[in-house]
Amino acid sequence: MKVVIKESYADMSRMAADIFVEIINQKSECVLGLATGDTPIGMYECLVEDYKAGKVDFAGVKSVNLDEYYPITPDNEQSYRYFMNYHLFDKMNINKADTYVPDGQATNVAKSCEAYEKNIDALGGIDVQVLGIGRNGHVGFNEPDCELYPYTHVTDLTANTIEANSRFFESEDDVPKQALTMGIESIFKARKIVILASGEGKAEAVKAMLGGKITTKCPASLLRLHPDVTLICDKNAAKFI
Ligand code: GLP
Repeated sequence: MKVVIKESYADMSRMAADIFVEIINQKSECVLGLATGDTPIGMYECLVEDYKAGKVDFAGVKSVNLDEYYPITPDNEQSYRYFMNYHLFDKMNINKADTYVPDGQATNVAKSCEAYEKNIDALGGIDVQVLGIGRNGHVGFNEPDCELYPYTHVTDLTANTIEANSRFFESEDDVPKQALTMGIESIFKARKIVILASGEGKAEAVKAMLGGKITTKCPASLLRLHPDVTLICDKNAAKFI
């Protein structure tokens, strides 16, 4: 894994956006793998800035998102569909019909996950995937466990993640207890992966990802097995490396 430590959150966000812009400018019909959470917001702001400055065009771009709460409706402000529209899609010229987020309202979850996975393949795979990292080392909603499900699936959230994500909801009780997420193998289909970490709260997770055992107990550590992963973090997240 390539590791880049930047002075600030603004610098790491700019670098991540530059990687995406370069790929889009090389391949106008590329497939982006996108993530939610606080961490990629700065990168999305840079992408919108670049779009407005005429440096990048999203007209032919397609995207697939990593995960979504379950159950949740797309108009719920905490849904990841809402997040993506708000932070990125509504601010540039991507065709919304070409943006995919797991269906938080699916009635047949197994079928919906299978279709989501097939769609990733039908799109020709992901050219570049951005990831955040959970404080417990989760990626997407692949939570630490003895074994991990490889493809898009429904999963129970850990108490740790429910607590971490409760900051976005009125109370911890309002956080959905399940989520739909791409699996580790779905993520590994991406030709290039950029993982972002910012702030001291992520320093332990970054240390475990890079320096600990490669284990499903720290899902992010599995990324060391992928041939093209770049970790971009700020100084605070790099405190223990
Ligand atoms: C969430 C998301 C992840 C995200 C992570 C970190 O639970 N499912 O995709 O990477 O937690 O979020 P944040 O960037 O807000 O710290």
